[in-house]
Amino acid sequence: MQHVDGKVAVITGGASGIGLGFAHAFGTAGMKLMLGDIEEKALASASAELTAAGHDVGTFVVDVTSAEAVDAFADATYSTFGGAHLVCNNAGVVERHDSWGSLDDWKWVIDVDLWGVVHGVHSFVPRMLDAGEDGHVVNTASTAGLLGFPGISSYVAAKHAVVGMSQSMFHEFAHTPLGVSVLCPGVVDTNINSSHRNRPGVDPAAVTGETFETYEEVLSTADVAGIVLDAVKADQFWILPHEHYGEQALKNATDRVAKGNPVMPRVKR
Ligand SMILES: NC(=O)c1ccc[n+]([C@@H]2O[C@H](COP(=O)([O-])OP(=O)(O)OC[C@H]3O[C@@H](n4cnc5c(N)ncnc54)[C@H](O)[C@@H]3O)[C@@H](O)[C@H]2O)c1
Repeated sequence: MQHVDGKVAVITGGASGIGLGFAHAFGTAGMKLMLGDIEEKALASASAELTAAGHDVGTFVVDVTSAEAVDAFADATYSTFGGAHLVCNNAGVVERHDSWGSLDDWKWVIDVDLWGVVHGVHSFVPRMLDAGEDGHVVNTASTAGLLGFPGISSYVAAKHAVVGMSQSMFHEFAHTPLGVSVLCPGVVDTNINSSHRNRPGVDPAAVTGETFETYEEVLSTADVAGIVLDAVKADQFWILPHEHYGEQALKNATDRVAKGNPVMPRVKR
């Protein structure tokens, strides 16, 4: 989608972190912004911040684990702005557990990180195809969609699924005016490590999380958003803002052919 000025960007998980970074970058590029998030207060403050920066913003409280809620979000988007051109299925959470650990942990992460993306695609893509205009979908995966990090296997499974699904979409979108990209970042300075705050039944005030600020490889949300906007304009599928993970993914692929065992993924701390 070469031209974004005046078009509508839809962002799930738009109240914080990478999603909020997208909103700033896309708004600066002249896009109208429709943000969906489960955190009502954070959504209100994101909206105030973006409005003060001169952007045209709509918001909707949505839980991406619910197909009905995401459909209602799409309805609200079309009634607010009359269309959707760049849809970012970005909301996500992580939980630490062993692969043989709590099924509730597994279910929560898969519901948000995989079903959230499926719901976004299901609610928005048919309407975008009906409109027949140029459009683009960005699915936020992770380097955990390319490599098997230990201790977060529900996250790794969901993100691998998002990478696979996005590749299917790339082929399904041939001969349509839509494009798709999959975003696979390493460490980005966001609130992801306190994502437990959004788990049903949890008191968000009691949740704290490690910050990524001091990591050698950390990127800002503005850096990532700029890379994503360039990729959307160039209709580029793979978005790997941290190059060393691309190299690790390549080694992982050649190890498969050579029947070598997986190597522990390396994070630059
Ligand atoms: N931060 C990183 O290092 C990193 C690396 C790779 C991938 N990611 C991915 O980036 C995406 C954004 O995460 P972030 O790092 O900005 O974290 P973040 O916690 O700052 O933002 C995530 C947003 O998603 C929202 N959200 C959570 N559950 C939701 C639900 N059920 N329905 C609707 N909204 C919900 C949160 O309220 C929050 O606003 C996620 O998919 C995450 O997996 C992050």
